[in-house]
Amino acid sequence: MRHLIDIKDLSVEEIKGLIDTANDIIENRAAYSEVCKGKKLATLFFEPSTRTRLSFEAAMWELGGSVLGFSSADASSTSKGESVTDTVRTVGCYADIIAMRHPKEGAPLLASLSSTVPIINAGDGGHSHPTQTLTDLLTIMREKGRLDNMTVALCGDLKFGRTVHSLISAMSFYDNVKFILISPEELKVPNYIRQDVLEKKNLEWYETDNMENALGEADVLYMTRVQRERFFNEADYLRLKDSFILDTEKMKYAKPDTTILHPLPRVNEISVKVDEDPRACYFKQVENGKFIRMALIMMLLGVTK
Ligand code: NCD
Repeated sequence: MRHLIDIKDLSVEEIKGLIDTANDIIENRAAYSEVCKGKKLATLFFEPSTRTRLSFEAAMWELGGSVLGFSSADASSTSKGESVTDTVRTVGCYADIIAMRHPKEGAPLLASLSSTVPIINAGDGGHSHPTQTLTDLLTIMREKGRLDNMTVALCGDLKFGRTVHSLISAMSFYDNVKFILISPEELKVPNYIRQDVLEKKNLEWYETDNMENALGEADVLYMTRVQRERFFNEADYLRLKDSFILDTEKMKYAKPDTTILHPLPRVNEISVKVDEDPRACYFKQVENGKFIRMALIMMLLGVTK
């Protein structure tokens, strides 16, 4: 039995396989409409979500399976004091696969140790978010035709943004990828990403607070929201929340083919006017999220077309 807890649980070949399957699903939707018939996905969301939970659920429905679950901790026995371990042992009696989001870093890993069905980490605290990264990789591949030989700029809350941590880890698998990390001083990438990924793998990277210069170099710009829910005090959030805003003026510094991504939800960090720019790909990214999750569910359940 396989789980997906961290993007590093997948090899480059497996990621390629998932991207190929997602692309095939996009071309041949009908061929996949019954592959998970009789199978059930449980979505256990102890933290708010729109895209991740609904794309998992839409993915399972489109594969012919069905879905059960809860969308907040208050609606489950967690509110009565039940442990994550007991919750997943219970849900494993009802479902064939579980997607779990939890505010505590490591909760899906802990759950996987005693689960009788595959667990997918749908975001654990400020740590990691491997299925968003699969979504990002599929989108980059579809927009750029490659995952190597490029400069990726990541902007915003690089400290608490779990999608950033997983994306840097994943992109470090590919040749000649350079990173530009744009953030306020207080929201730089955590040490474990710096030491275990960027430095250990001897990657080319630099930190800056100059968005204009970075835009001129970036093949992909990955914008992120300042993660209000992870701050210890509201004053710090208010001070930092609008540090970097991508607007149509700033877009003039970008290359003609820079791909603009954002895991969403957006708060203020991308002006809505940018949505009309053909380089803005964050709504395509939303759509791709469902297809790559279909491919992942199939892989973990061991089903084929
Ligand atoms: C992200 C998350 O939950 O980490 N959203 C998502 O899954 N698409 C990003 C965020 O909340 O800022």
